[in-house]
Amino acid sequence: MLREAAVGAGDLVVEVGCGTGRLTLPMAGLTPARVMGVDTEARMLDVARAKDVAGRVQWVRGSAYRLPVADGTAGLVVMVMVIHLLRQRTRAFGEARRVLRPGERAGQLCIWTFTPRHVEEFYLNAFFPSIAIIDRPRFPAVDVLSDELRRAGLARIRVEVREEVRRMEIAEVVDRVRGRYISTLAMLPPLEYRLGLQRLEEMLAQDRTIALSQRSEWAIISARK
Ligand SMILES: C[S@@+](CC[C@H](N)C(=O)[O-])C[C@H]1O[C@@H](n2cnc3c(N)ncnc32)[C@H](O)[C@@H]1O
Repeated sequence: MLREAAVGAGDLVVEVGCGTGRLTLPMAGLTPARVMGVDTEARMLDVARAKDVAGRVQWVRGSAYRLPVADGTAGLVVMVMVIHLLRQRTRAFGEARRVLRPGERAGQLCIWTFTPRHVEEFYLNAFFPSIAIIDRPRFPAVDVLSDELRRAGLARIRVEVREEVRRMEIAEVVDRVRGRYISTLAMLPPLEYRLGLQRLEEMLAQDRTIALSQRSEWAIISARK
């Protein structure tokens, strides 16, 4: 993302929905640009700030719909695992466009999200059948997202789809599900969540060597002002 947007010293990189800085901090280590992390949740920003011992990143509470950034000043705006949480995606894309630098060195928006195929093949679907129902509208096809980006006034849209396969031991899966590591788990009917977790816990009790394979499919979409 940093290379493609050709950001350097004097540029501004904004991560919208930065969470605990999982990506913001390594990103700040890779660029001399000024880096800002924006999130609506103060508690997320507190965790991020505590990790940022060098004070490399400017952590700001704010919303994707009203970024705390002046018009035309950012070289790169990043949204990783965030747009599924936005009810008005086109409005947020328009706001990203507002802060991007115009002109010959036009700023770039880069989005990472999951594809519809990822939703259909998600490794926990067998345990929680409602996950796919909840996530279908939150993770639309790349064509839908590209149209929304165009409607928001962005151009030169580029899409890349990447696959990632990972094996996870059953103990790790149970830990993740207990911690409701994805927002969808918190949206399940309580009984379905309890029964699915119970099945996973039984697998763990029977055989700790069981591993599940998680195949993720990412859509990486970039667009210019
Ligand atoms: C799944 S986390 C992803 C965090 C980070 N991008 C990462 O990949 O580790 C989504 C984050 O988006 C934030 N968020 C949700 N709605 C937002 C909004 N309207 N504006 C800014 N941040 C938002 C949440 O508070 C949360 O920290």
